[in-house]
Formats: sequence, structure tokens, C-alpha cells
Amino acid sequence: MTLPYFKNLKRRHFIRLSLGTLISFLGDFLFSKVPCLSHTQQVLDDPNRDFSFEGSSTLKEGATAKNLIYGVSARQDHLRSDPEFAGRLTEEASLLVPEWALKWAAGDTLLRPSPSQFDFSAPDFMFKFATRHNLLVRGHALIWHDSLPKWFDDFVNHKNAQQVLEHHINTVVGRYAGKVHSWDVVNEAIAYDPRKSWRSDGLRNTAWLKYLGTDYIDLAFRTAAAADPNALLVYNDFGLDYDSPLHEAKRTATLRLLRHLKAKGTPIHALGIQAHLKGEATNFNPRKLQRFLHDVAELDLKILITELDVADKKLPAEVEQRDRIIAGIYEDYLSAVLSEPAVIAVITWGLSDRYSYLSEFKPRPDGKPVRPLPLDTNLKPKLAWNGIMRAFNSIP
Ligand code: XIL
Repeated sequence: MTLPYFKNLKRRHFIRLSLGTLISFLGDFLFSKVPCLSHTQQVLDDPNRDFSFEGSSTLKEGATAKNLIYGVSARQDHLRSDPEFAGRLTEEASLLVPEWALKWAAGDTLLRPSPSQFDFSAPDFMFKFATRHNLLVRGHALIWHDSLPKWFDDFVNHKNAQQVLEHHINTVVGRYAGKVHSWDVVNEAIAYDPRKSWRSDGLRNTAWLKYLGTDYIDLAFRTAAAADPNALLVYNDFGLDYDSPLHEAKRTATLRLLRHLKAKGTPIHALGIQAHLKGEATNFNPRKLQRFLHDVAELDLKILITELDVADKKLPAEVEQRDRIIAGIYEDYLSAVLSEPAVIAVITWGLSDRYSYLSEFKPRPDGKPVRPLPLDTNLKPKLAWNGIMRAFNSIP
């Protein structure tokens, strides 16, 4: 049966119609692969935005001038193999957080080869490097559901979980007692989306929770406090930054946990906000975030921004535009956050685009190198560096 619309079409019309359909399909397919700025994202980019700054010539100096700490994460293999990078790190940062070395197992690093063994070669190198260059050290992360060795799931059970937790913390924290600025004692204990958790407390269903119940968090902090009374003990998490139902639920669950721990007398001293930001986000609400920070500070807790970076996966390829957007996000986010006196440190998750975990975890669909961090791949400051410095300078 020929449909009425088509009965008068001639052969050439079908060819034109088909070509038109093909071209529009191809156009959609091709352009869907190349991020382009939507109208709202164009709001993010102000070609005339001023990123000039005065004063300090390193982020370390800019932070120190305002009684802040600026630090970076780094991997031991990069510090060992790339002296140019290591040198720039010691110039720009006053704190180092091992990206792999103090996890149970990460990358080619195995702090815990077996239930009874510890291999401290990587963290020892990081502490030696830090001591040589007068860097503070953050420990990351003692108790987490991620970066666990292969033996963990088969070995840990209801009977031994407390002993495994206490043995790890006592051994690792005890070894570096007195040398650590702060420890991420527990990392990411709240569910990715607390609204979907059947638990009213929104905790993430991890092995630790399964075997030890909700008190595993208190146990971890008490064990760490006994092993190193001088370290600042931090609860660290992500997804706390934006004005969205998901992040609001995360902030609510996090506050609930912190209030519960403080009421219990848990030796917790600070909240770590990872701050893995998104270049394409248009729902950053400074006042909403500042209210959350104030509520945390009201619990007599300090705040650290612990893993700051800005993913550019969904930003346009054009480097100048991408760099401007990212720099603006660094400045706007930190200017908002640093208005809270309880914030004591800003740590970026990496220093240079030469080594960003986002290259692997959030690569760009167009395959172009990511540009999330303060220094470019040649270790030169980018506008992101200016954005961070301007935020430091904005502190009264
Ligand atoms: C990441 C590292 O950067 C990667 O190299 C590793 O493969 C996986 O972990 N939140 C955290 C960090 O707390 O430990 C994660 O680091 C990034 C997300």
C-alpha cells in the first residue's frame, strides 16, 4: 500500500529525501561526538573575564599568606621518574598526599600484599621525599571500599573484620605517627545516592558496614586517634558541591553522620570535601554550599578541600575557551568555600595536566588531552592557576 503523501513523489524526490536524511543523521552523529557549548555553557565562558593577579608567585605563598595550606596529590612513580615535575611540586605546594602509596592496593603499589604483610617501600619513599622538601603529608585512605587487595574479599569476614581494621590502622598510622598532618580515616562511607539506599542513614553498603555495622566508622577513628594523637582525623567524601537533589541528599546524609559521630564523642576533627568538579556544571550555588560548610563548622569541625580538580570532558575542544571556563570554576568555587574560616587547606588532585587521573577516568570523547589542573603538561601555570591564586587573594 502506498501512503497518500508518497504517491506523487518521483524517484528523484526519494533520492533527495534519503540524502537529506542521511546528511542530517551523519551531522547529528558527528557533532554529537564533539562537545559544543550549549547556551547555558556559553554563560560559563566570559571571554573578557579578568584573571590577573598580584602578589605571590607560587600557590604555596598565596595560600600561606592567608594561613591556608595548598597541597597536591602525586604518585611515587612520577616523583621518582620525573625530577622536573617533582621540582615544580616542591615550588608550588607545601603539602603532599600520596595518590597511591597509602592505599591498601592501588596501581602498581601493594601496601598490603597479604593479610599478615605490609610493604612500606612506596609510602616510605613519599615520606622521605616530603621530609627532604619540607612538605607536610596527608594520609589517604585508611578505611575505604575501594583500592583493596585481591585477598580482601575472600579473607575478611564477621569474625576477623575488627581485627583486620585495627591491625591495619595501628600498623600504618603507628609507623608514621607524628609525621602526618591529617589522615583520611574513612573515605566515601555515604552511598553514591543516599536517596536510593534502603538505609535511613544513607551509608554505603561496604564490607566494613556488613561485618561491623555502623560503628565501624567510630572504631576506625578511635583506633587512629590512639595510634597517632597528633594527626587531624578526617572523614572524606565527594558529591557535596552542587545545587542538585543528589548532592543535597549527600550533604544531608553527611551532616547526619557527622552529627552522630560528634554526639558519640568520636575523635573526628574535620570533613574532607573531595571537590571533583565538572566543567560543564551550571548548578553551582555558592550560598547553598556556604550554608553546608557553616553547618559543618558549627560541629566544631575543620574543613579541607581534598581532591580538587575540574573535569573538562564535556567542554569544547578549543583550549583558550576551555581554560577560561575551568579557571572561572576554580576561582568561583574556592572564593565561595574560602569565605568559611573553618576551611584550612586546599589540595588539588594532581598539579599538572601531565599527570591527572582524569586522563584515564574521564577522558575526552574527542581524544584531546584533558586540561583539569593548575599547571599544563609543560609544568607552566594555566589560567586555572590564576583562578586559584585569585581565590586565595580574595580571602580578607
Ligand atoms: C584515584 C587515583 O587518582 C587513581 O590513580 C586510582 O587508580 C583510583 O583512585 N576519590 C578518591 C581517590 O578518594 O583516592 C581517587 O583516586 C579518586 C576519587
